[in-house]
Amino acid sequence: MPLNVEKVKYPLAAPATLPDVHDFASWLLAPAHRIPPKPTRPGLQAVLFDLDGVLVDTAAFHYHAWKHLADELTLPFDENLNRSFRGVPRMACLDLLLGEHARYFAIEEKTVLAERKNGYYLDQVRTLRPEDAAPGARDLLTELRAAGVRTAVVSASKNARLVLDLLRLADAFDTVVDGGDVTRGKPDPQCFLKAAATLRTAPQRCLVIEDGEAGIRAARAADMPTVGIAPVRGAQRSVGGLTDLSLPFLDAPYATP
Ligand code: BG6
Ligand code: MG
Repeated sequence: MPLNVEKVKYPLAAPATLPDVHDFASWLLAPAHRIPPKPTRPGLQAVLFDLDGVLVDTAAFHYHAWKHLADELTLPFDENLNRSFRGVPRMACLDLLLGEHARYFAIEEKTVLAERKNGYYLDQVRTLRPEDAAPGARDLLTELRAAGVRTAVVSASKNARLVLDLLRLADAFDTVVDGGDVTRGKPDPQCFLKAAATLRTAPQRCLVIEDGEAGIRAARAADMPTVGIAPVRGAQRSVGGLTDLSLPFLDAPYATP
């Protein structure tokens, strides 16, 4: 049914500068305008990129932030434990750090500790510059866009949008799903399925690029082909970095013999 703009009432939160009722109607309907048409490209239709460890190397930032907190709590922490945190949401990482002590902390205390770690992390993240984007990222994104392949960032991080802004990569993606957009983190497939739904692509036509085992498991549970950055357990194919990737390589699982 067409919208009767004469009957639309301005909600309290309407922007103060709306010039007329027609602009108001387009503002009201804007989200619907942003729903993309169903893709018709044969083969690969979307590439879903993990952020940390794929589009930018933040592993050292996470390591130093967790190490700082672990030292304050006199808990052991090393590179191995940090590696197992890849793709794992912040609170779940804290539980892994606290180990058998986790049950002695109230949720409020854990929240304070997780926030403290995030402060240490953000102190380092704020130093990120556009040139810190992973080598090959911009060229690959340009190649995918030119070929009509949709792109998304699918990250467990609640800082994903900030990091993308600092790298000046935010506009290079059709959608972003971050740690605040889901109720279940990786290895649950929810984040990848949400991205596929937003892009209107079948999961099987979305390829996932991941550096963490939790992410690979999530992608496999979503029925999506996977490429690991450096060897990742469970990934169907692995490469050293984004510079090794090209559209023909990513399209290969869909090629008809
Ligand atoms: C993932 C990282 O991308 O985000 C994990 O690989 C991290 O190591 C998780 O724990 C959550 O990040 P944040 O920024 O919300 O603490
Ligand atoms: Mg990662």
